[in-house]
Amino acid sequence: MVSTYREIVELLHDPRVSSDPRNLTASAAGVPEGVPGLPASFLHLDPPEHDRLRRVVTRHFRPPHTPDRVDGLAPELHKIVGGLIDGFVGRTEVDIVDELAYPLPVAVICQLLGVPREDEPRFHVWVESLLKSLDPDTGAAAEVQQAGTEMAQYFSGLIDAHRRAPGGDMLSALATDDGPEGQLTQEQLLSTSFLLLIAGHETTVNLIANGTLTLLRHPHVLERLRRDPEMVFRVVEELLRYEPPVHFVPWRTALDDIEIADTTMPKGSRIVLLLAAGSRDPDHVRAPDRFDPDRFDPDRFGLAREGDQHLGFGGGIHYCFGAPLARLEAQTALGELARRLVNPRLVTDPPPYRTNPVLRGPRHLQVAFDDIVPSREG
Ligand code: HEM
Repeated sequence: MVSTYREIVELLHDPRVSSDPRNLTASAAGVPEGVPGLPASFLHLDPPEHDRLRRVVTRHFRPPHTPDRVDGLAPELHKIVGGLIDGFVGRTEVDIVDELAYPLPVAVICQLLGVPREDEPRFHVWVESLLKSLDPDTGAAAEVQQAGTEMAQYFSGLIDAHRRAPGGDMLSALATDDGPEGQLTQEQLLSTSFLLLIAGHETTVNLIANGTLTLLRHPHVLERLRRDPEMVFRVVEELLRYEPPVHFVPWRTALDDIEIADTTMPKGSRIVLLLAAGSRDPDHVRAPDRFDPDRFDPDRFGLAREGDQHLGFGGGIHYCFGAPLARLEAQTALGELARRLVNPRLVTDPPPYRTNPVLRGPRHLQVAFDDIVPSREG
């Protein structure tokens, strides 16, 4: 288990560290291996296969080939957030998880991928089961297998439909891709769809919920954010450091004997990277347990390269693929909450948490308020 910033960064960039669970020796059991019956997604692959699959998907998600996929979503995001907060009007208390933090990223990733929004109740059940594979103690192998099979059937139908009648979404683009990297097989399309759907919402929900909770615990920061909307960029960056949605990465393996911090990690052993601890390493940041968005003020401290300051999105070749989208969603949701909720306060502190050890965030977050400021459109 590695918990210090410098060593984690070193290992994230070390080619002798694999993300493929097949490299584990038998003694290191209990590591999630992805979805049973499907090939690993690129999250669980090493170069060169990782790089090829990531490049294929990137072509349809980010500049230079697809410059507007994320940026072009900004107006739609504002509309979705505005609509969800409009739903709070006339009430004095809401569950931020169920009524904003979860429905927002679900709506966005469905639209992006071309998954019908009304199918959420179906895939929600499968995803809940699949996430249990992150926690080997639940003993849910049969449930995980069943959920994987049902979700694969569902996505097979969806991919075939998009191939026959392609739209402007990512599943259509991936299913009909004839770019320089060659086509994805049907199995690769399935594992990529699973990865994007799950990574695309199960993490962002925690960033928005952890963010709301943290801001309500620091009312002076919330008040500053209300008066200075530009501050939201720093707030989200500091949240990724201070209350990250992904606490640790449990699926790395040493491909060789690796010397680090006067310790030898033997070949074949499992390496757990404690990203959240690394982001609070006192040798890396000043006063690490203080929530202080100003530490990301570029005018005061000169923000270095993306990802340099915290490990919220990991690092190296597996650096979060969806980081620009996650940032935009959290900035929009938290900015609008700060602007529109009048006198917001926590009803229960601490709130009940999800039981997942990797993905950390509240299961529910009851927030009371006096009124709702009308939306800009209103
Ligand atoms: C606040 C929200 C998010 C957080 C905190 C987060 C965090 C992370 C982290 C820590 C990793 C690295 C895992 C590793 O090193 O093994 C990662 C990888 C990844 N994330 Fe995110 N993520 C978020 C949102 C998203 C979104 C919205 C998407 C999709 C649109 C996404 C897609 C991915 C993918 C595909 C990978 C695998 C990248 C690779 O293996 O090359 N993530 N994410």
